Amino acid sequence: MTAIYLALAYLLGAIPTGYLFARFVKGVDLRQVGSGNIGATNVLRAFGWGPGLAVLAADVAKGALVDGPLASWLSVAPGGWVAAAGGLTAVLGHDYTVFLGMRGGKGVATSCGVLLVLAPRSTLATLAVFAVIVRATRMVSAGSLAGALALPLFLWLLGERAAPAFCLSLLLAGLVWLKHIPNIRRMLAGTENTISFGKRRDE
Ligand code: G3P
Repeated sequence: MTAIYLALAYLLGAIPTGYLFARFVKGVDLRQVGSGNIGATNVLRAFGWGPGLAVLAADVAKGALVDGPLASWLSVAPGGWVAAAGGLTAVLGHDYTVFLGMRGGKGVATSCGVLLVLAPRSTLATLAVFAVIVRATRMVSAGSLAGALALPLFLWLLGERAAPAFCLSLLLAGLVWLKHIPNIRRMLAGTENTISFGKRRDE
């Protein structure tokens, strides 16, 4: 049953929602636009807040479904090692999707969905840090990197430090930093992409 759970977690995580939206609704290859990432931030950048938030919700939902309904359907113990492995597998599916030649997104939203189920208080606190940093810098990447650092700290401070969730938070944080290496390079060069909080002319 564990193998089936992990396989389904990978396949669910691997659905490239941002890419599919851009390709089939807008007729655009998102990999050729903005940062080239297939995540919600780049959808927002290319098509505005509505599509960006819709893709964000879908990517969060992928993670939450794996550790919520899918886990209970397959009788995976909540908060155990298999549930943590399922969460990690879903994020790996998003980051290295078989549907796009093993290239994918950066896993922030899907990690968020997984962790909202496994460690909700710490995830909400992390989202507050994320929001403050993004508002201040207009760089979603800066918020993601800061959130990845804050997350394990919050798990520890807020008492959600069961070993599977805590180890998972460290792995996901490491993965977020790894996937943001191009963003870090652009930040250091002063050329990182930003987002706008104003309304787009065409919205
Ligand atoms: O979640 C991804 C975000 O942190 C950065 O996205 O498109 O600016 O590389 P992007």
